[in-house]
Amino acid sequence: MEWKTANADGKNRVIVTKKLPGSRWLKILKEVGCRVEICQSDAVLGTENIRTAIGSRCDGAIGQLTEDWGEPLFNAFKAAGGRAYSNYAVGFNNVDVAAATRNGIPVGNTPGVLTETTAEMAVALTFAAARRIGEAERFLRAGKFTGWLPTLFLGERLWRKTVGVIGAGRIGEAYARMMAEGFKTHILYHDLHVNPGLEAYVRDYSTFLESRGDAPLTCQKVKRLEDLLQAADCVSIHTVLDAATRHLINADRLALMKENALLINTSRGPVIDEAALVAHCRKHPDFRAALDVFENEPALEPGLAELDNVVIVPHIASATGWTREAMAVLAAANVAALLRGDPVWPESDVTPFLGDSPPRAAPSIVNARELGLPFLTR
Ligand code: DGY
Repeated sequence: MEWKTANADGKNRVIVTKKLPGSRWLKILKEVGCRVEICQSDAVLGTENIRTAIGSRCDGAIGQLTEDWGEPLFNAFKAAGGRAYSNYAVGFNNVDVAAATRNGIPVGNTPGVLTETTAEMAVALTFAAARRIGEAERFLRAGKFTGWLPTLFLGERLWRKTVGVIGAGRIGEAYARMMAEGFKTHILYHDLHVNPGLEAYVRDYSTFLESRGDAPLTCQKVKRLEDLLQAADCVSIHTVLDAATRHLINADRLALMKENALLINTSRGPVIDEAALVAHCRKHPDFRAALDVFENEPALEPGLAELDNVVIVPHIASATGWTREAMAVLAAANVAALLRGDPVWPESDVTPFLGDSPPRAAPSIVNARELGLPFLTR
């Protein structure tokens, strides 16, 4: 594995397991005196590769969602003097946070800068599935288009239909707002918590629609996931991956969905039992799925790529230049702040970190409370 070093004389050694976009993130680390070693390979690093990179002295690390940051790595990191880890992702299902906490290591993530970007991709996938865009493009590129036909690639109209959102956190809420506002869809959502902000948004938007003589929209939290699956024309998954959500969408639950429903996933692959999905899509040609994430990424379940009623893209929901650079800034700011001994940012709005006078704080540390880290008081 080739690693490139920046600021070789820096006193804190930080490893970064992938090249990151933009330059600001590196400046942030250099400003706090870090020597930064960046892996140049696009290959996913295994635990042994990372353990070797940590070596006998490593103060900070920025890792990827494709890597298994579990007990073995956190033990090695701690032994090497590790004090700051940040995932380059908002999701941290690849990190054993309890193991990090046992080793006294703060774990950062990069929330807030992926919200609209990921929701936009979920909307794009929704319509790619509804309007059969992948299928139609393959048809055209294969030279099969011989002229306009009244029956060519008939899809689904979503206008004023019902969208079900599984996981109404930041990204799920942003998707729901886009669908309600843009396409006048009713919203059902399934979540552990009520989302008053989302409900108020749809209510206020409905008031606006009614003021123009249009029919209002509804937004309801459902208790039973089954009720959402039965009622929704389109279901979009935005939940975290944990023991409770692994295979949340299985054969039995797929069977509850409408014959011509859409299923969109931009969260984590294992939330869907992919083998069950392949079987369901084979049996129900009018059912359509659009996936950004896969159960055994980067491998696909056999048969998935051959299904015309499935749209697949390679985990790119957060892939805009702005978001990926902002994620790098937040990951670097997490590590830099922890190495400098700064407190943790107490708010969910991280945009001040993207401005010209970023706060002296770590933007987002998921185990800050467990570790008793101080929060910035203002
Ligand atoms: C994340 O940050 O968790 C996303 O999956 C990256 O796209």
